[in-house]
Amino acid sequence: MSDSENLKKIYHPSEEVVARARVKDYDAMYKESVENREAFWAREAEELEWYKKWDKVLDESNKPFYKWFVGGKTNIIHNALDRHLKTATRNKIALIWEGEPGDIKVYSYHALSREVSKFANVLRAMGVQKGEIVTIYMPQIPELIIAMLACAKIGAVHSVVYGGFSVEALAERIEDANSRVLITADGGWRRGKKVVLKKIANEAMKRSPTIEVCITVKRIDVEDCYMETDRDFWWHELMGMPIAGTSADTEVTDAEDPLFILYTSGTTGKPKGVVHTHGGYSVYTMSTFKYVFDIKPEDRWWCAADPGWITGHSYIVYAPLIMGATIMSYEGAPNHPYPNRWWSMVEKYGINILYTSPTAIRGLMRFGSSWVEKHNLSSLRLLGSVGEPINPEAWRWYYEVVGQSRCPIMDTWWQTETGGFMITPLPVTPLKPGSATKPFFGNEIAVVDEAGNEMKPGEEGTLVIRNPWPGMARTILNDPDRYIEKYWKAYEKQGWYLAGDSARVDEDGYFWIIGRIDDVLKVSGYRLGSAEIESALVSHPAVTEAAAIGLPDELRGNAIHAFVILKQKETPSKELKEELMQHVVDEIGPIARPQEIIFVDSLPKTRSGKIMRRVLKAQAMGQDPGDITTLED
Ligand code: PRX
Repeated sequence: MSDSENLKKIYHPSEEVVARARVKDYDAMYKESVENREAFWAREAEELEWYKKWDKVLDESNKPFYKWFVGGKTNIIHNALDRHLKTATRNKIALIWEGEPGDIKVYSYHALSREVSKFANVLRAMGVQKGEIVTIYMPQIPELIIAMLACAKIGAVHSVVYGGFSVEALAERIEDANSRVLITADGGWRRGKKVVLKKIANEAMKRSPTIEVCITVKRIDVEDCYMETDRDFWWHELMGMPIAGTSADTEVTDAEDPLFILYTSGTTGKPKGVVHTHGGYSVYTMSTFKYVFDIKPEDRWWCAADPGWITGHSYIVYAPLIMGATIMSYEGAPNHPYPNRWWSMVEKYGINILYTSPTAIRGLMRFGSSWVEKHNLSSLRLLGSVGEPINPEAWRWYYEVVGQSRCPIMDTWWQTETGGFMITPLPVTPLKPGSATKPFFGNEIAVVDEAGNEMKPGEEGTLVIRNPWPGMARTILNDPDRYIEKYWKAYEKQGWYLAGDSARVDEDGYFWIIGRIDDVLKVSGYRLGSAEIESALVSHPAVTEAAAIGLPDELRGNAIHAFVILKQKETPSKELKEELMQHVVDEIGPIARPQEIIFVDSLPKTRSGKIMRRVLKAQAMGQDPGDITTLED
């Protein structure tokens, strides 16, 4: 078969997959779900336990600040842990965790619930109140999950800052959340090396002085780990004290009470604290997980993301626990000590469903198929992809080599703001490599022009969501105006949500995501704002101005290129270039390291002074920069 024929090939699920799938007829169920949206979501919500049932499924009286399951009383922990203790699930494995050095921890639902209760008691003893935002900055260890769940249990709001972020990123998020309590670790393991976190946490606490209590997990045993008297406590010491006990009451929360804040990058330098709730988020993550990954009690599920991102929040922690699944979690690098690390763990633990990012797939594909073929992966039934468009070559390798042409790939399109999957196949959906296929139940999604007219099949346009859904973000912390401005202003008249992506729909109604239309970059699936990288560069004493763009990169999707204007007395050099790259790492984290820094004398700007990044990008790629009538010079 030629390559172009290959790209047109449609992959149909096997009879076995179809026989097992919960939903056999997507079209019928989809039609029903959008025609009777509230009835659909009420039915889904009824699968959960509520302390008090809702009075109203959807309150649209204050658009775009929608409310779901209004009047309902719940707590996500009741559905994720408490209710399982009343059934045989209490003895089931909730979490299998493997550290990079090979250490293993396994928790039953009962044990996980006990650890969560103990830490909930510790937090209560530290005076943590319902509604208070607790910042968590940790490597990928079980205590991260326990800390998140303990916050939720007492009605506190967690704000997890990804452990790969550095001082400035952490300090900024602590300050915006006005956190009084920080939970961290001395460090973690990555590629055989100790990564020290407490030092970064200490620096961040100096920059944002709101923290009064810092609790640290001892993971790597670093020497000279500075602990401040009366502020710093060791996790294991607190958990060993009588106050920790063994059980704790779960706080009753309103369906609309905040569960967590998760910061994500936007078009300005300041990250946005996206707010999710107990009620709607429980229903939406449970429902999407159940139908898309067809999760059954016997399954072992591995979402190889970091709990510090939305993928981890929704599909490592909350949805799998609500469904009573067995979760696999791994601390370290996929290729450490050898490129077969993941495949050996799939075999060792008998993983049935693996969910990861295109960057990880491309990274492992580089090492060749023999690393995969050494292992018996017959336990795998379904695969998943998220975070960026998956190129057909990587899709086919994942499908043929990892899934042995047996496991459909669920390419799920969604965002921090959506809480859960929005465009996604089900196991029964015929697949086209590179397409996230069709909208999830209840969602009417379209690709439109500026006026809101639907594009013709195959034409590129802007992706919009035309209806509210239970997992949607409720607002941006401390900035409701920005919430309206960013997501609801562009199609205000129609009341549609602007996702910030461009896409195409083909003749069969399949969605093909192209990429961001704003100054947000997806680098290895991580979301970064051009403005964040630019402000990190400008904070260096040698720099007056900077512009950051993403250029296509085979492995990472995009690579960061930064254009820098130096102060007059400074001269460009290789050393300075290296210093600036390191400066960005120190401020934001290794994921933001520019691949290239180019020293320039001027930057293309509009007459109102806005940097035209699109012109820089076109120039760097040797393309036509398009309309430049607003260019100043
Ligand atoms: O551009 C889309 C891309 O990731 C963005 C959302 O990023 P974030 O909030 O970090 O959430 C990532 C994990 C849910 C989207 O606007 N994106 C996400 N999934 C896909 C994708 N692009 C193409 N295909 C996907 N499956």
